[in-house]
Amino acid sequence: MAMSLRFASADDLTWSSDERIALEHATPRFGEVFIDHMALATWQAGDGWGDDAVVNYRGLDINPGGAVLHYAQEIFEGLKAYRHADGSVWLFRPDQNGERFALSAERLALPKLPIEDFVNACVRLAEVDARWVPDPGEDGEKSLYLRPFMIANQDFLGVAPATRVLFSVIGSPVGAYFVGGVKPVRILVERQQARTAPGGTGEAKCGGNYAASLRSQIEAQARGCAQVLFVDAVEHRWIEELGGMNFMAVSKDGQLITPELTGTILRGITRRSILEVAPDLGLEPVERKLGIDEMLDGVRSGEFPEVFACGTAAVVTPIGSFLDGDDEVTVAEPTGKTTMEIRRRLLDIQFGRAEDTRGWLKRVC
Ligand code: PLP
Ligand code: COI
Repeated sequence: MAMSLRFASADDLTWSSDERIALEHATPRFGEVFIDHMALATWQAGDGWGDDAVVNYRGLDINPGGAVLHYAQEIFEGLKAYRHADGSVWLFRPDQNGERFALSAERLALPKLPIEDFVNACVRLAEVDARWVPDPGEDGEKSLYLRPFMIANQDFLGVAPATRVLFSVIGSPVGAYFVGGVKPVRILVERQQARTAPGGTGEAKCGGNYAASLRSQIEAQARGCAQVLFVDAVEHRWIEELGGMNFMAVSKDGQLITPELTGTILRGITRRSILEVAPDLGLEPVERKLGIDEMLDGVRSGEFPEVFACGTAAVVTPIGSFLDGDDEVTVAEPTGKTTMEIRRRLLDIQFGRAEDTRGWLKRVC
């Protein structure tokens, strides 16, 4: 039987000073600074997983002929380590990330990493680099973002699944994803270019989906928008998700509506968690097809007084307006009561201020 991976620490680990970590914690920018160490493991066809360790953060040994550079056989995840008021450090639903990682691996013809090994890699890295997990801070959402990923790691230009694969977890202290904290963001509606299509890789968390979203993102930024809202690739009318977040609308009669999972959008863990806590907040969770015109009309008429984006990086980010062609559609209550209540409930669970009645938190140290 295959042994679990231990991710023991290498014996030459080096450490940043307390002063440097304090400096980086003061104003963390999303994903710009990396922690001292990384988890690593390799997979070889026939041999399975091995070479697991926590090592110093360093460059990877990839040659120009490395398959991942040419054919993007790659997947990743994103989750956070939170520091509670008593100093302890916790992960939020890491098993769910491990499960989605396995689903992504299957779609990209990569080997499956057992969920237990995935979780263990995250726990071990967060434990070794616990000093890098910030206190929540004034904006109340500083944390350590963990980025597990798996890549084809073989010098070979034939188009074929790699027989050598690398798995790693790196980490970066982060604050709010959008500069400026919890402020309503402006969103560009993208009706033409799709990031994925039925039968494609939309449900997998693979780099190619994000590469396909970048041209629209450039346009969004040029037009003063923070993110892009994509619609389906067939009829160009059903809301899917934003470039890196799921989408939710609050109706005036208390429904919390989000596009149903059709295979082309990411099964967001924040999305699922919010749907699960919605009834506690007196909301009725609804997963259904949501037309872009229905949504924009509903925002104009007040049927949808609040809309927001959600995800690990974004937590719950209120949407203030949409730019649809040349039309500006303004949301009535961008930092409305319901959006802010959902945001608070989620952060309270993650930071240990509310009881974790569903067993979502996993202690690191
Ligand atoms: N949709 C996309 C495209 C994403 O990249 C993310 C971020 O991970 C999400 C949705 C939200 O997923 P989660 O809540 O699991 O972070
Ligand atoms: C996340 O929320 O974890 C994401 O992956 C979104 C984005 C940074 C890619």
